[in-house]
Amino acid sequence: MKTSRKNSVLPVTLLAGMVLLAGAVGLAHGQKGDAPKSSAAPLAHIANGMGRDPQPMVTAQPHALPAGAPAPGADAVSRGAYLARAGDCVACHTAPGGQPFAGGLPMSSPIGTIYSSNITPDARTGIGGYSFEDFDRAVRHGVAKGKGSLYPAMPYPSYARVSEQDMKDLFAYFLSLPPVEHAVPGNDIPWPLSMRWPLAVWRGMFAPDADKVQLKQAPAIAAQGTPEADVKARGAYLVEGLGHCGACHTPRAFTMQEKGLAAADAQFLAGGATMDGWVAKSLRTGGSDGLARWSEEDIVALLKTGRNRHSAVFGGMADVVSHSTQHMTDGDLHAIAAYLKALPADGAASTYTYNTATAEALWKGNDSQRGAALYVDSCAACHRTDGLGYQEVFPALAGNSAVLSADPHNLVAIILNGHQVPATATRPSTFTMPAFGWRLNDAQVADLASFVRSSWGNASAAVSADQVAKQRKSTPHGN
Ligand code: HEC
Ligand code: HEC
Ligand code: HEC
Repeated sequence: MKTSRKNSVLPVTLLAGMVLLAGAVGLAHGQKGDAPKSSAAPLAHIANGMGRDPQPMVTAQPHALPAGAPAPGADAVSRGAYLARAGDCVACHTAPGGQPFAGGLPMSSPIGTIYSSNITPDARTGIGGYSFEDFDRAVRHGVAKGKGSLYPAMPYPSYARVSEQDMKDLFAYFLSLPPVEHAVPGNDIPWPLSMRWPLAVWRGMFAPDADKVQLKQAPAIAAQGTPEADVKARGAYLVEGLGHCGACHTPRAFTMQEKGLAAADAQFLAGGATMDGWVAKSLRTGGSDGLARWSEEDIVALLKTGRNRHSAVFGGMADVVSHSTQHMTDGDLHAIAAYLKALPADGAASTYTYNTATAEALWKGNDSQRGAALYVDSCAACHRTDGLGYQEVFPALAGNSAVLSADPHNLVAIILNGHQVPATATRPSTFTMPAFGWRLNDAQVADLASFVRSSWGNASAAVSADQVAKQRKSTPHGN
């Protein structure tokens, strides 16, 4: 009796372990490099393997795909092309230097590397043999034909929200693409972790049942050009569904499922873990570092052009804008903005007001405040002594959410590693924030970060040299 009991404990423990590890691969979403091993998130070093074996960033150049809105009355293929943009399928389903949608983007995880599938209609290596039902089962339910359950690196828990009609249009679009014969390497995961059945358990536990999700949603939300009354519903449909914004912006549980998939869940979009060295901050907060001071127009501008009067995108958000949101209609971007603005805030109300004291001191040549001299030397040429920058060129640091954020991670990361604003169709020029990690030591970076966090009305806690040292060590960007 004793032995049989013991035997039954083992599978349960093994199952729990495998579900956990299988789920961990879900975090691979959107990572474009080797994320920090010692970061706050224990499993956040899941990435697509590029850090290990440096190669060009797949997402550096937007792929040349049809862009823009389908005309009213457009056919299924053009509607599907637009939806594929909204779902950002190309970002994950394209290998560095590879054909769009031909798959093979490596995503490394603690248990090995997985590769995204070829979703062009090639009969042998792609989805050429798929019926609509097969496609639907993969995209909304996470079960691929002849393969079994998918790793949640494919964001099917969000795609469960996609309507039947939109699925049909997406399928029509993918079938219309030129088939690309490209056999994706088999996942490089050792047995027994390579078995897919624990993923079925993970799915059962954590992924919503797509059929139930469909029953709950109103049909109006899927229509293009929705009437005013449905704008927020359309926004919810895009953000919670195809946009899979929560994959980066929602915190994950230990078993790696997102802690919420819809606005009603308090943790939905409440800020994710570090991924690829950047933090996708909370989109809910009402505090100084949140969207409270952003108008709907500001949000639309960021998603469409990559910049607005408060900020410019960087990290994973730069890829999202390049491949996905810049191609969306103003109507849909407004719907997303209206939805985000209506999310219940999770912080105190914003108290930020601009203060001229710092600018006046610097104008008088008084740089006695710690970090001020460094700021004048290294930063003021672009961000100016008044901290207001040059609109849509060099972002203002006064009142900037990345600067004010309680967690200074992104501020320190951008000082150490720099970043380039992505070119977008409406703003084709790119501007570069240089990296300073190679010439400033930890104490100097900390002084600078603390200075900008306490100037021009900014009032956030100082950053310590230790914090910078830790982040520098774990940085995926070199330097
Ligand atoms: C965040 C990354 C990511 C995004 C975005 C994404 N996918 Fe995937 N997808 C994957 C990965 C990784 C796999 C393979 C998972 C596995 O092998 O378990 C996959 C698998 C699939 C499969 C299964 C094919 C097969 O037989 O192996 C289909 C179909 C698919 N994706 C379609 C789509 C469509 C359509 C979109 C856009 C609406 C999309 N994906 C967006 C990562 C992504
Ligand atoms: C050559 C011009 C230039 C210099 C010098 C420069 N920056 Fe930047 N900075 C930029 C640009 C351009 C961006 C936008 C980058 C992006 O979004 O990809 C930026 C972005 C930022 C951001 C993120 C804000 C946001 O909304 O994107 C912070 C914080 C920042 N810079 C701080 C500094 C600090 C501190 C220094 C001095 C150590 C500095 N910058 C020096 C051009 C510059
Ligand atoms: C691949 C990961 C990823 C995905 C997916 C993603 N984001 Fe982001 N997002 C980020 C990161 C990282 C930042 C912080 C850098 C920045 O401000 O540009 C960010 C910042 C933002 C900001 C600026 C917030 C602020 O206060 O400065 C907005 C707005 C935003 N995201 C909206 C969205 C929306 C809407 C979606 C879905 C359509 C989305 N994001 C999907 C990674 C992501």
